[in-house]
Amino acid sequence: MLNIVLFGPPGAGKGTQSERIIEKYGLKHLSTGDIFRANIKGETELGKLAKSYMDKGQLVPDEVTIKMLQSEFKKAENPKGFIFDGFPRTNAQAEALDNFLSSEGTSIKVMLALDVAEEELRERLKKRAEVSGRVDDANPEVIQNRINVYKAETLPVKEYYLKQDKFIEIDGIGTVDEITNRLFTAIDKL
Ligand code: AP5
Repeated sequence: MLNIVLFGPPGAGKGTQSERIIEKYGLKHLSTGDIFRANIKGETELGKLAKSYMDKGQLVPDEVTIKMLQSEFKKAENPKGFIFDGFPRTNAQAEALDNFLSSEGTSIKVMLALDVAEEELRERLKKRAEVSGRVDDANPEVIQNRINVYKAETLPVKEYYLKQDKFIEIDGIGTVDEITNRLFTAIDKL
């Protein structure tokens, strides 16, 4: 299996690029943010819990997120591999993912990290809020909190993969096509 973590701050382009990667390589997309949003829409208990954190730009607790991710992973039938988008977001999630994948007889091949400057992130999220109406993008304070939480809690996950020699940084500035080409080049070399 080809398992890739697509990493980066809010608005870096993880969702946009995941769609292209899954199409080219036949992988399954596992986006914890998308799964939470589907649960919020469906008004499930998980959705209600997730919303209370997402509305403030905070992370949903690790134990809830890890359990949900494992359950979604097991639903996939004969996958060629997975793109993990928005997960892992803490070192505890990274460790849990490694242990879980090992129990499934597989592992993470690489973390591809999109590097985008903070000002550009704010611009992209502001624009997306105008067109998509995504609730967790609507408030500039919530956006700033998501960026701050990223720096404090999520960025350290990079070290986790660096130590395993599985970290590749990709320049996330440019057109969507340019960034896709950079990602494809990195994946083709694996
Ligand atoms: P999540 O949904 O994962 O949000 P995020 O990581 O903050 O990232 P986004 O989805 O906002 O951005 P993206 O990098 O996918 O960029 P996109 O392609 O959309 O998480 C939301 C919340 O859920 C979290 O805050 C947390 O509360 C909770 N959560 C999720 N996972 C969790 C976990 N593991 N643990 C705990 N809590 C969790 O692009 C952004 C915009 O830019 C789009 O409009 C796009 O069209 C545009 N764009 C893309 N590429 C370019 C480009 N090259 N140039 C110009 N514009 C571009």
